[in-house]
Amino acid sequence: MSAQTPVRRLTAPDIAAKKGVETIISLTAYHAHTAAIADQYCDFLLVGDSLGMVMHGFESTLPVPLELMILHGKAVMRGASKALIVVDMPFGSYEESPEIAFRNAAAIIKETQVGAVKLEGGARMADTIHYLTERGIPVMAHIGLTPQSINVMGGFKVQGREKAQWKALENDADAVSKAGAFAIVLEAMPETLAKRITKAVPIPTIGIGAGRDCDGQILVMEDMLGLSPWVPKFVKKFGTVGAAINRAIKGYADEVRGGQFPASEHTYAMKAPQKKAARTARAKR
Ligand code: KIV
Repeated sequence: MSAQTPVRRLTAPDIAAKKGVETIISLTAYHAHTAAIADQYCDFLLVGDSLGMVMHGFESTLPVPLELMILHGKAVMRGASKALIVVDMPFGSYEESPEIAFRNAAAIIKETQVGAVKLEGGARMADTIHYLTERGIPVMAHIGLTPQSINVMGGFKVQGREKAQWKALENDADAVSKAGAFAIVLEAMPETLAKRITKAVPIPTIGIGAGRDCDGQILVMEDMLGLSPWVPKFVKKFGTVGAAINRAIKGYADEVRGGQFPASEHTYAMKAPQKKAARTARAKR
C-alpha cells in the first residue's frame, strides 16, 4: 500500500475503450509546464522521439538516446496528473529482439512510471508487441510514415498514396492489433486508407496527417503552437507562440539596452534595521 494519495491517471485500457465512444485527444509533450496545461484537455500525452528535432535541434529522430526519453518522460510525469503518458522507444532500443525491447521498455516504465510505450513498425514488430504486452507493458504501435525509417523510405514521405501499397499497410494494422497493441498511430497517409484501417481494426487509430476519420488525433505540440520554424502540410497552427517569444525577447533586450529594465519595482530594498540593533545603538549613545 502506498502512503501517497493515488492519482487516477487514464490507462491504456481506458484509451482502448474510447473507440467508437468518443474522439481521443492527444498531443506530444516534453516538458513539465506545458504537460500540465495539455493534461487538462488531452486523454494521452506522448513523449515522442520528435523531441530530438523539436527540442534538441537534431535533423531526424535517429540520434535520440534512451536516456533522453527517460529524462523527458519524468518531466512530463511531474507536470501531468490525469492523462495517460506514453513514451516513445527510440531508434535502436527495440528492433533487435523482443528481449532487448523488453529490457529497454522496462527501464522506461521503472524510471518514469509512465503507463505505456510506443514503437514504430507494423507486421515486423508484431512478435515484439506480443512479447511486451504479455509481460505487462502496454504498447502503442505506429505505422505509415515512421520517421525512424526515413533512410529506407527516402525521407519524410507520405505512405500509401498508391493503392498498390494499401495491402501492406492494412496488414500492418491488423498484425499489431492482433499482437496486442492498445492503439495505433497512423502517420501521413491518405484519408481514405486511414478510414479503411480505422473500420477494420478493433483498437483506436490516432491520426497525424491521416485525415478526419481516425478515432483520435495527435499533433506535435510545438508545431500546433506555432513555435516550430517549419511544419508539414497536415499541421494547423492554433497559436503564434514563436512570434510571441520573439516579441518578448526583443522587448527585454531593448529595455535592458535602453535602461528601462530593471525599474525600481524589480529591485530589492535593504532590510529595515532590527529593534535589538536599534536599542544597542541607543545604549551606546
Ligand atoms: O515522435 C512523435 O512526435 C510521434 C508523433 C509524430 C506521433 O511519434
